[in-house]
Amino acid sequence: MPDSLMRPPASPQFPHKITVDNSPVHIPPGPLRSSTLVKAGLPKLYDPGYATTAAYTSSITYIDGLRGVLRHRGYPIADLVKTVSYDQVSYLLLFGELPTQRALFKWNKRLSIPDLPQSVARVITAFDTDSHPMPVLMAALSALGAAQPHLNPSIVGTSVYAKNDARMEAITLALGLFPTIIAGIHRHLTGESPAFVATHSAPLSYTEKFLFLMNARPANTKLANALDKILTLHADHEQNCSTATVRQLSSSGVDLFSSLSGGVAALYGPLHGGACEGVLKMLNRIKTVDRVSSFLQGVKRREEKLMGFGHRVYKNYDPRAQIVRRIAYEVFALVGKKDPLIDVATRLEQEALADDYFVQRKLYPNIDFYSGLIYRAMGIEPQFYPMLFALGRASGWVAHWYEFLDDPDRRIARPHQRYVGEIGPRKVTRIEERDDMPTAKL
Ligand code: CMC
Repeated sequence: MPDSLMRPPASPQFPHKITVDNSPVHIPPGPLRSSTLVKAGLPKLYDPGYATTAAYTSSITYIDGLRGVLRHRGYPIADLVKTVSYDQVSYLLLFGELPTQRALFKWNKRLSIPDLPQSVARVITAFDTDSHPMPVLMAALSALGAAQPHLNPSIVGTSVYAKNDARMEAITLALGLFPTIIAGIHRHLTGESPAFVATHSAPLSYTEKFLFLMNARPANTKLANALDKILTLHADHEQNCSTATVRQLSSSGVDLFSSLSGGVAALYGPLHGGACEGVLKMLNRIKTVDRVSSFLQGVKRREEKLMGFGHRVYKNYDPRAQIVRRIAYEVFALVGKKDPLIDVATRLEQEALADDYFVQRKLYPNIDFYSGLIYRAMGIEPQFYPMLFALGRASGWVAHWYEFLDDPDRRIARPHQRYVGEIGPRKVTRIEERDDMPTAKL
């Protein structure tokens, strides 16, 4: 993020010079740090949901939410989606440059991990088939970490990731096995026997490998291409809830696999990556175009949430949503099936964008609004959509982990709180003396 964004702009509302009791506060070069203001006597900031606080430094992804701009390492997202594959994007996020042909060959080779540890396969198949896929993914990543004691700082020491070889081993194991794990979870939960070993002979792209493992047959090239673009759109989005979780967990020094498992947990929430599943459930509930207006009335009465709309950062059209919408229509044409929910989604978008409630709050469709309809056209059930989001986001998570390891500002994450409880000290009584005390509703 350019430092200019982190410093007060020279405007009457936010003067460049800050004074406390008429004395100017010395602002050293670099980002404006909260600690500078606190040292100068200003109070600590209260910032629920980190709405206005930068906690990390990064050079991976740049977003200008007011203008709807998203760039990875300076490359506009639309150009990346048009020109390069997801495996090239994962390389770009991690190493900072797009790969040469030779580098890409080596990268794909490193990510071609032939088989999953037996212990991970056992964990996946131990889950009941009506389990939601995301807890299974969390457990599988934990099991993968447990199978690598030599990469665990708690076992071999906190300096294990000081060596680049260990970092690369952890990253390539995680990224390389994400498709195998996710395809295996899908097969197990849909009653198919999971193929935890990649048996294909042709060199396949990351996405083709995933589809091969999931369907046990080569993928339709055009559909694989569409999914590859969707994974690229999901690859990174700077300090979103799950990526910030991966960083926060890593700040304690825990191993990469545990941090990724935590990232999956954060992503699973309906306000984050779980929204793509939520959109499909919402569309299924609305069911027909003539019920869109009354649904939107319910949203305005705050009885409903319009899933797939709104974003903390974008106060303009989410640039990913525009691209995903185009891919959606390509996929609908490819599969040739008319899904009535597409008309419901289109009408919902049109009515919301023309409605003052949504206009005033700058609520636009986000990436999740159309992605679920694409997966549905591909024949995938809604509960698996967040897992496909995770498949794409995994490259962003590992890139942020890798970058964070060398951040000179890295410290254990430990937010402050605004304490509003009783300060006391209150007298501690024995239980038999508390009969007249109010009791909790249990
Ligand atoms: N439907 C109805 N009202 C909304 C919505 C929505 N989807 N999103 C925001 N609002 C309203 C909200 O009620 C508030 O109104 P008011 O000022 O009158 O109280 C105003 O817009 C500002 O919303 P906010 O909750 O302060 O915004 P936020 O930045 O805290 O939350 C969000 C962002 C994405 C969690 C939220 O927009 C939301 O819940 N959207 C639906 C879930 C969703 O689609 N999530 C996917 C996000 S994109 C993919 C990803 O990165 O995970």
